[in-house]
Amino acid sequence: MSIRTKIAGIGHFVPDQVITNHDLEKLMDTSHEWIVERTGIEQRRFADRKTETTSTMGTEAAKKAAADAGIDVSDIDFIIFATLSSDYFFPGSGVLTQRQLGLAESGVGALDVRNQCSGFVYALTVGDTFVRSGLYKNVLVVGAETHSMGLDFTTRGRDISVIFGDGAGAVILQPTTEENQGILTNSLHADGREAEELSFICPGSHSGIHDNETDFGFSGGKFDSIFMTQKMLDEAKVFPYMNGKHVFKYAVKKFPEVIMKVIHAAGYQPTDIDLLIPHQANLRISQFVQKTLRLRDDQVFNNIQKYGNTTAASIPIALSEAKESGRVKRGDLICLAAFGSGFTWGASLLRW
Ligand code: UT7
Repeated sequence: MSIRTKIAGIGHFVPDQVITNHDLEKLMDTSHEWIVERTGIEQRRFADRKTETTSTMGTEAAKKAAADAGIDVSDIDFIIFATLSSDYFFPGSGVLTQRQLGLAESGVGALDVRNQCSGFVYALTVGDTFVRSGLYKNVLVVGAETHSMGLDFTTRGRDISVIFGDGAGAVILQPTTEENQGILTNSLHADGREAEELSFICPGSHSGIHDNETDFGFSGGKFDSIFMTQKMLDEAKVFPYMNGKHVFKYAVKKFPEVIMKVIHAAGYQPTDIDLLIPHQANLRISQFVQKTLRLRDDQVFNNIQKYGNTTAASIPIALSEAKESGRVKRGDLICLAAFGSGFTWGASLLRW
């Protein structure tokens, strides 16, 4: 009897603070109409800056996922945390979540995944491998983001700052021997040639190269930090950069490609899919993918209208909402697919 990995429980958490497109109009030269037409986004949630962080939201989602799986959080035997907006530069949000769940004394391992928009699919694949190998029996996989902490909310950053939102989603992975259940196949990809096309370059070890006019070498007992320089701040290098049109073109090619790959690998056709949950990058991207694969409206789930692009959190939030609204039922064939910074992309196909 072969062992597969099932999603035994799922939950999500989004901050209470709703930020509408009209709220953003007060900060920068943008309009509700532009944002809706180009992205489909009507509002997003922003974390409370005094009380909420990536790990606190991830912890809330994790508690809900554990309850949904019918386990105690103390049963979790490994944590995988996907985010690009961790609480600290290091350590990652995985250990903070472990501590907040009261698991620090148990010594449960915590791994952080840095694969941006495809972070959840990458993390799910790692968790799936751990469970199928027999290494762990209750793996917590979290995707969480606090984008609002570091966007450029002036007109200069409007192409990016109107897109992103905050939130968290989590799943509990367990082994199953049920015939008609579990993760069937995963497919992960990357193209490092595109690394800078959607990136947040400074601060980092690259900073000295960026600021090549200043002498940062070791001379006469002087060796300055290159982590954060005045030039970075002056040139707004401390904000994310995105070549939007280029990312869009690559995404609409790679999404259908990787979705077809996992569907065919498991011996199915797009018509067999009960629900596709694409990473919520842009409603136009999801619609393009739907059209390319000739999927019906009821086969694709979108909630970007309410939350914006929550990067690693978008798939687990959407999957959790889809389940809550009765669109995911036992035995359904579900495809999860993501594309984003790196570029990295991937998909998972599973029977619920
Ligand atoms: O999740 C990770 C993966 N990310 C993605 O998949 C994102 C992919 N890219 C996109 O979603 C789209 O490229 C964007 C939504 C980012 C931009 O949409 P676009 O249709 O490609 O617009 P654009 O960047 O070509 O900009 C069109 C115009 C420009 O003005 P001009 O040059 O035509 O006068 C921009 O300056 O819209 C202007 N613009 C805005 N106007 C109002 C850019 N951002 C805004 C804004 N509000 N927020």
